Amino acid sequence: MGSLTAQVREGHALPRGFYTEHDVYNADIRDYWNASWIWVGHISQLPEPGDFITFDYGPESVIIARDRDGNLSAFQNVCRHRGSRVCIESAGNARVFSCPYHAWTYELTGKLRRAREMPEGFDPAAHGLLPVHLREFHGMIFVCAANTPPDLDAGLAKLDPLVAPFGLADLTIAHTARYPVPANWKLALENYMECYHCAPAHLDFARSHSIKDPHDLNADLIADLAARSRAIGLPVEEVVQYCAGSASLFFKRYPLFEGYQTGSRTGAPLAPPLGTLTGHDGGATDMQIGLLNNFLIYADHVVGYRFVPTGVQETRIEVVWMVRAGAEAGRDYDMGDLTWLWHVTSMDDERIIRHNQEGVNSHHFHPGPLSEMEWGIRAFYDDYLGRVSP
Ligand code: FES
Ligand code: FE
Repeated sequence: MGSLTAQVREGHALPRGFYTEHDVYNADIRDYWNASWIWVGHISQLPEPGDFITFDYGPESVIIARDRDGNLSAFQNVCRHRGSRVCIESAGNARVFSCPYHAWTYELTGKLRRAREMPEGFDPAAHGLLPVHLREFHGMIFVCAANTPPDLDAGLAKLDPLVAPFGLADLTIAHTARYPVPANWKLALENYMECYHCAPAHLDFARSHSIKDPHDLNADLIADLAARSRAIGLPVEEVVQYCAGSASLFFKRYPLFEGYQTGSRTGAPLAPPLGTLTGHDGGATDMQIGLLNNFLIYADHVVGYRFVPTGVQETRIEVVWMVRAGAEAGRDYDMGDLTWLWHVTSMDDERIIRHNQEGVNSHHFHPGPLSEMEWGIRAFYDDYLGRVSP
C-alpha cells in the first residue's frame, strides 16, 4: 500500500491498483462506504410496525426496521454472540429478529431481548445489535455506519424547499432493476459522474437529454424551462451545489430537448405528475445526496441510482423507478415505457464499465488526463483520496 497513493497524478485517472487490489477494496469498504451516507430505500417499503428491509454492500449488511412506536432504526445485521447474520431475508415483517444460529433474539430496535443459558453476570443491555445512523429526507432513507457521520444538515436545509413540490415522501417503488457488472465499484460510480461518454455510448439518452454539462446550456433554454417550471408549481430553476466532501449535495434542473416532457422514449408523459405539480415541464433534475447517492427527478417519476460493491471487481448497479403513491401499473403508467430509457442506458453503461475494467486490468494501463467534462470525477477523487490512502 502506501506507494499507490504516491502514484496518483493530479487531474488524471487513478492507477490500476485502485481497481484491482484486495487491500484497496477492504479499505474502500472500511474507510469510505462505512463512513458515508448510503441511500438504502424509501419509507413506502416499511409502512407498518415490524416491517424491515436489509441492505448489503461488500461484506456488510444493515437491517432497517420500523418498531412498535412507528420509528425507524438501523443496526448491523451481525449477531452479538458469534457473528452470524441475524436476518436472512431482504424484506418482510417481523415481531423480533431471532438469530438462526443459537436463537439470540433481538427487538425491532436492535435491543437484545433473550439469550439462552448465558452465565451469571451476562448483561443483555450491552449486547444489542450495533446501531447505525439513519436519516430520512422526504421519504428517502439513508444510513451511515460511522461513529460520527458526515454532517448533511446544512445541505439538506438548502435542498428542502426545492425538493418539497415533488412530494418525494409520497412515492411508491414501481420497479427495481439490478445490473451486475464485473468491475470495481469506483469505475461504475465514475461512469455515472461524467457525461463525456454520453455522446458515443448513449444514443437513446442523447435524443432527449443534453449531453453537455448542464452548466453550459444555452441561457434561453434555461429561461424557457424556468417559465414552464413555474407554471406547474416548481420553484424557479435553481442550482444548489454544496461541496463538503462526502456531505456534497448537488441539485440542478435542466431542460430536456424540445418535444420531451419527461424521460420517455417518445417524449410523452409517463405517469401522473408528482407531488403538487400540475403538469409536465420538460425538465429533469440531477440530485446527488452525498457522493454515493444519485437521483433523477422528472415531473412524473424519480429514478434512483446506486453502485454497490460486492467484490473487488463485482458491482451491483441498482436502478429504482418511483412514481406517485397510488399510481398503478397498467392503469396510470406502462411499466415498459416507464423503465425503457434508464434500462437501455444502464445496459449501455454495464457494457462500457465492463470494458473499462478489462482495459484497466492490463499492465499497460497508464492513467490518462481527465477532460473538462469529468469534473465530477475530480470531486470524487478529492473526497476519496482524503479518506482512503492505500
Ligand atoms: Fe447468533 Fe449464536 S451467532 S445466536
Ligand atoms: Fe452512462
